Amino acid sequence: MRVIVCDHYDEMSKEAARIMAHEITLCPKRVLGLATGSTPVGMYREMCAMYKRGEIDFSGVTTFNLDEYYPIRRSNPQSYHYFMQEQLFRHVNIPEKNIHIPDGEAADPEKACKEYEAEIAESGGIDLQVLGIGVNGHIGFNEPAGSLVARTHLTDLTESTIKANARFFKSEDEVPKHAVTMGVATILQAKKILLLANGKNKHDAIRALLSERISTSNPATFLNLHPDVTVICDKEAYGENDS
Ligand code: F6R
Repeated sequence: MRVIVCDHYDEMSKEAARIMAHEITLCPKRVLGLATGSTPVGMYREMCAMYKRGEIDFSGVTTFNLDEYYPIRRSNPQSYHYFMQEQLFRHVNIPEKNIHIPDGEAADPEKACKEYEAEIAESGGIDLQVLGIGVNGHIGFNEPAGSLVARTHLTDLTESTIKANARFFKSEDEVPKHAVTMGVATILQAKKILLLANGKNKHDAIRALLSERISTSNPATFLNLHPDVTVICDKEAYGENDS
């Protein structure tokens, strides 16, 4: 696992955007796996700026997002559909037909999950998957548990994730209790993985990830099974300033 420790969030975001741009320049038809949450906001901002400067062309790119709350309307400002439109999609030239996000409105979520997996396979698989990490070590919404689920599925959010994400909603009660998420095998099947983490509250999760022990109590530790993972974090998440 390659670890890049940056001085601060902006540097981390620029480094991540540079890696994304490099991938797209190498192969304009890249299939990207994307994450939401506060961590990648700076990376998306940089990617939009690079697009405006003519440094990236997204016209051949296909995207698959990791997850979406369930149930939630796409028009809900807290939905990941809305987030992606605001942070990236409406600013760049990814063709709409190439954008995929799990469906938070699906009448039959199990069927929708199977279709999502089929779409990923039909696209040739994800070339580069961006991940954030939960304070509890979740990746996507694969929460710590006695066992993990391999493929895209409907899952319950843990109390700790509901509490952590309540900051985006008016109150904790409004946080949906479920989500549709890629499974751990879906994530591990990406050819390359880029995990971003910043802030002291991510330190324990990053320490567990880098301990090289694999446990379902910290789903991110399964990334140790993958041959091409880059972790970009700031000093606080890495713990460089710990005594
Ligand atoms: C979001 C996702 C989650 C987040 C994680 C960290 O698509 O899959 O696993 O990456 O909850 O969220 P932030 O970045 O808000 O700390």
